[in-house]
Amino acid sequence: MVKLADQVVALRGKVFELVNGDSAITFPNERFGPERFREIYSHPAARGRSEGAGLSDLFWYWLSPGPEVHQEHLEDGPRYDDVARATLRILSGPSDRLADMATRATAAVLDGFGGGLVRLRDLMMPVWAEYCYELVFQESCPREARDLIVGHANDVVTALKCTGLRHMGRRNRLTRYLAQRLGDVPHELPASLSPREQVHYLQGTFFNTAVVQLSEGMAHVLLALAQHPEVQERASEGDDRYLSHVLDETMRLYPLFGIAHRITKGEITLDEDTTLPAGSVLCFSYPAYHATGYEDPERFDPDRWEALSAKDAHHIPFGIAANRPCPAWRLAPLAMRASLKEVLRRFTLDSTVEHTRSLPSRGPCLLVPHGESVSPTRMRAIRTFLRVRDRWEEVWRSFVQLGLGTWMVLDARHRRLAGRYFAESPERTSSCPLPNSLPPSSSR
Ligand code: HEM
Repeated sequence: MVKLADQVVALRGKVFELVNGDSAITFPNERFGPERFREIYSHPAARGRSEGAGLSDLFWYWLSPGPEVHQEHLEDGPRYDDVARATLRILSGPSDRLADMATRATAAVLDGFGGGLVRLRDLMMPVWAEYCYELVFQESCPREARDLIVGHANDVVTALKCTGLRHMGRRNRLTRYLAQRLGDVPHELPASLSPREQVHYLQGTFFNTAVVQLSEGMAHVLLALAQHPEVQERASEGDDRYLSHVLDETMRLYPLFGIAHRITKGEITLDEDTTLPAGSVLCFSYPAYHATGYEDPERFDPDRWEALSAKDAHHIPFGIAANRPCPAWRLAPLAMRASLKEVLRRFTLDSTVEHTRSLPSRGPCLLVPHGESVSPTRMRAIRTFLRVRDRWEEVWRSFVQLGLGTWMVLDARHRRLAGRYFAESPERTSSCPLPNSLPPSSSR
């Protein structure tokens, strides 16, 4: 059953490759192994993000609306610098305040949840919707905004994982809300963007990427704890140092980026026989890199970080400092630690589902409030139910992913969002005169 699911996933990869038409080279590989990984990833010519690759049409499709102003997909230039500075401003603040906000957002959501079977990503999304709203607006999140943010972020990540199609109507509802509220944002927003672009920037970076990444990261760490009771018990003591090890080990084994890609802007000479031409698509595989240089790399072992330094190990959960790293590399771990403490203060977790990096199951898990007990017979029944349902879901989901993935690849290719955008104006990387109208309520 699981083998069949794997085959369907491999077939999906082939369809993507075929339709996008890019010839990509993945690192580390047999010739250029982990010892060359950071150097190649950091190469100054390896910084292109969108222009010149068929793959970009698909990413832009998934990240709509406003993929052209999403920081991840902007090419280097003054506009990128302006946007990157704004992101850092919004993410800045004293650690205590940022952690306290995460505790409050987690408590607010968990106050309405008495325990039971959940999908961890779904449980966490409203938490990070509230959190990111407060980062941006510096006030607590109204319920209406929380629902709109969750609706949007969930739609993006569901489409990205090919477990559902994209629904522009859901996304555009948040765009309209943010457009009405733009004047209430107390931060200095990127001046090189029009008001409509500023709305898309906030929507893409904070109400999609930030919410999705934090929710997925938390789903992974909570599921890892649910499957390693002895680690869960130690983590429940709330020691920051140990929690950091737990997070590092979770992000080592289940990095949120499977592959980060770059489009080369100039030639890169790798050795006397190999020069990559400009326009090559380079794929940097996080799981492959994270699996090298460790003893028993498949084992989930937070204690390994007692003797290792994240800086020196093959460990890049937030990317590479020299080449557009994650701007939340400081905020994310401290916010996640605070949220984790709040969850563990209230619940014991248990789960028997398969823990994979892309986690399309959204992490089914049982949360039992402290002070309540589940009889051994009932616990055995729940664990069996979770395992059996998970295996069945995996089979039908892999067919759904193949079908929907193929449909979206073709639709994205037909729309050619990135291709058209760059074809319209060669100066697009530094200035972008888009019309200032808001999107219609539904474009599909
Ligand atoms: C656990 C949480 C997170 C993880 C593990 C993570 C991981 C990463 C990684 C690996 C990259 C670099 C990918 C590459 O080289 O192409 C990245 C980029 C990025 N991340 Fe995060 N991220 C997280 C949370 C966030 C949050 C909270 C934000 C909020 C704004 C954010 C915004 C971004 C942006 C804008 C980029 C693109 C940077 C650029 O190209 O300049 N991430 N993230």
